[in-house]
Amino acid sequence: MEKQIIICMGSSCFARGNKNYVEIIKKYLNEHNLTNKIVFKGQLCSDNCSKGPVIQIGDVEYFELDETKLKRILHENFDNEA
Ligand code: FES
Repeated sequence: MEKQIIICMGSSCFARGNKNYVEIIKKYLNEHNLTNKIVFKGQLCSDNCSKGPVIQIGDVEYFELDETKLKRILHENFDNEA
């Protein structure tokens, strides 16, 4: 099944890191030739601002992202798909 990455673009998550994490995710997908395999899209605030920044991969939500955590999550989910 095609996996999706959904990133919160609500103002709180956006200001607290997702603005940069969009670029990190795009770069990761490009470098691993995954842009055609993985759907990457934004969504509005899901009322989890206090636990943000938030992204979702498949059915799993990830909270309190930082750059290290985001990179680890991408490797864990997608390195095998490349
Ligand atoms: S802005 Fe992301 S959960 Fe509210």
